[in-house]
Amino acid sequence: MEGAALTRRGLLVGIGAVGGAGAMYAAMGALGLAPSEQDKQFAAPRPGDFSLSGKGAAKVVILGAGVAGLTAAYELGKAGYDCTLLEAREKAGGRNLTLRGGDRLAELNGPAQDVRFGEGVYFNAGPGRIAPWMVTLDYCRELGIPIETFVNNNAAAYVNTNGRTVRARTARADMYGYIAELLAKATNVGALDRAISKADQETLLEFLRRFGDLGPKHRYEGSERRGFTKYPAIDTGTPLDAPGTLHQVLAAGTGRAITNDFGYEQATPMFQPVGGMDAIVTKLTEAVGRDRIRTGAKVTKITNLADGVEVAWEGGGLKADYCIAALPPHILAKIPHNLGAQVTTALGTPIPVAAGKIGLEYGRRWWELEDRIYGGVTETDLDITHIWYPSHGYHSERGVLVGYYNTERNAELYAALAPEDRRRRALTQGKKIHGDKYRQNLLSSVSIAWDRQPHIQGGWVRWPDFDSSFTFLQRPAGRVYFAGDWLTHLIAWQAGAMESARSVVTQLHQRVLQSA
Ligand code: ALA
Repeated sequence: MEGAALTRRGLLVGIGAVGGAGAMYAAMGALGLAPSEQDKQFAAPRPGDFSLSGKGAAKVVILGAGVAGLTAAYELGKAGYDCTLLEAREKAGGRNLTLRGGDRLAELNGPAQDVRFGEGVYFNAGPGRIAPWMVTLDYCRELGIPIETFVNNNAAAYVNTNGRTVRARTARADMYGYIAELLAKATNVGALDRAISKADQETLLEFLRRFGDLGPKHRYEGSERRGFTKYPAIDTGTPLDAPGTLHQVLAAGTGRAITNDFGYEQATPMFQPVGGMDAIVTKLTEAVGRDRIRTGAKVTKITNLADGVEVAWEGGGLKADYCIAALPPHILAKIPHNLGAQVTTALGTPIPVAAGKIGLEYGRRWWELEDRIYGGVTETDLDITHIWYPSHGYHSERGVLVGYYNTERNAELYAALAPEDRRRRALTQGKKIHGDKYRQNLLSSVSIAWDRQPHIQGGWVRWPDFDSSFTFLQRPAGRVYFAGDWLTHLIAWQAGAMESARSVVTQLHQRVLQSA
């Protein structure tokens, strides 16, 4: 290296390039340095990370084999950590739950339901859609899980508000049309003169014409964008009638149901694993090793010690070097521990949110055949809130609609009903949109009330305020780390669970490499 001083930074970058981040952290530890922001991009632990430090991988007990726990075990496993997962439920996956014929769904304070779906039919009772920027897709790629489009926004789906049903494309055309007309009117009477220049007003008007499909004099007089009763073919087709007045459109209340995909989380395109969301669980489990997951193990005590962590469950116990508690906070809060009062208080801060879904299996895909709806979501102000149409299996014989997907008060309302009453109510509501066919050709159904799921007891949580409890639990209490979507700003997303697991894996691995 001609004339170049070998700086500590240069050495670290070189070690990082050859040995990965783990090796770099080990070297940093040896040099007494802390990682900088730019070193924080996730790099999975590797066996070679230990060669510099002369240390070995540690033994880690992971509480909960949901997406966070599985991801942590998967990443630590890459460097040879000896992980044991304790899962209170009968199978791994947590809220990543896909139901198929032959499954039995237990419920707290309610009867178990036998799932009677036909061959090849499934229902994602938990997560159902993935945004492309989310780390979840990186895991699908890495684990070889094929994905397909999840149709989150469908112009042909319906909007049902204030007792009236229109297609989403009609609702949008009218709202955008009238908004554009109003803004054009304001511009044309000089109301914007003090806000923007004449040249900018011209540009704005040009955009508004397009945005609202405005007619002469910037009036909204309806548009082909509203749709047709008979679509163009040999002839020009039969457009829908003219729109109602601005007052009627506003009074219809459709505006609140046409913006769901505007945000970065719900924007189209979204994706789903082919064959069911639980492909993620299946592949992670295979990679981690099925024998590392102990199911039916309900943790009863967590004891942090100077040299490790002791975990007891009904019927057993073990000691490990570290623990990752990847359970919902309200479940974790009930387990006796010696981690201190601040941990207890922090775990008690987030509030569980109820969420519910029903899968309705039909023997005829009438929504495709008659409504020409291929995937997507109908938005309603009914207590069912949403209807989802399947984004797969098009033109096959059977299919599962999500007949309700609701949260909070509406979810609690359905949770309190017996399964057959949930179905009855869902059918009564759906019929308001789809008519009698909503009750016909129904083969079976299954409903989930997440707040009544054993060992989960909530759809997700809400932090009243992302306060000091939130950041406090992002750091370990002794040798116990906490992980889950609830410790991220991606609550109710698998990506949150995965990002949290990655953060904990990085912290834990650095500690192991740097420990004396
Ligand atoms: N992530 C959840 C959803 O997409 C909240 O509905």
